[in-house]
Amino acid sequence: MLWYRCAMHPLIETLRAAVACLPRGLAEHIEGVVAEARRLALLHGVDEERAALAAWGHDIARTLSPSELLAEARRLGLAVDPVEEEAPILLHGPIAAALLSRDYGIDDAEVLAVARYHTTARAGMSTLEKVVFVADKIEAGKVRAEPALARVRQLADRDLNAAILEHLGQHLVEASRRGWPLHANTVAARNHLLLARAGRGQD
Ligand SMILES: [Fe+2]
Ligand SMILES: [Fe+2]
Repeated sequence: MLWYRCAMHPLIETLRAAVACLPRGLAEHIEGVVAEARRLALLHGVDEERAALAAWGHDIARTLSPSELLAEARRLGLAVDPVEEEAPILLHGPIAAALLSRDYGIDDAEVLAVARYHTTARAGMSTLEKVVFVADKIEAGKVRAEPALARVRQLADRDLNAAILEHLGQHLVEASRRGWPLHANTVAARNHLLLARAGRGQD
């Protein structure tokens, strides 16, 4: 077992212990995302340990209430745009990234970007970001709660961009039905992937 423990990212154990203190449902979600992120990392050729580390950390601020998210964002000096004021849940990604850097000493910019943008996506995501973004949407508990995500899961193994476009399309329909504003990063992410698919831009 020693070789395996040496291969594991040293901060994973620290984050795993922090996750164990979160409410059970959230901890189970995060464990599911880690498993999916490891699986997708191997399929799509990104570092499994970095994917696992980002997955362990992505939801560490998920238990904060809307008012706590707004207060914490201000404490951390994060810019809060009007859409985030309206939907503070979007801030649990940027706040997680700030905490992973400040409190856990993570300095891998790509891992921090995974946490930061997992709530909105963004144009030009790295493959690592895409792996964990998709893993977050297709873990078993999420798919049980939102059966339409099974389509995202079907696409994820062979085409991460198609899986993300499917998820963003579903989000667009839901946002339109419920009258939610769309975050600028979400619109930019979808346009970026659609244009790349049409051959008008690189991904
Ligand atoms: Fe999240
Ligand atoms: Fe999550």
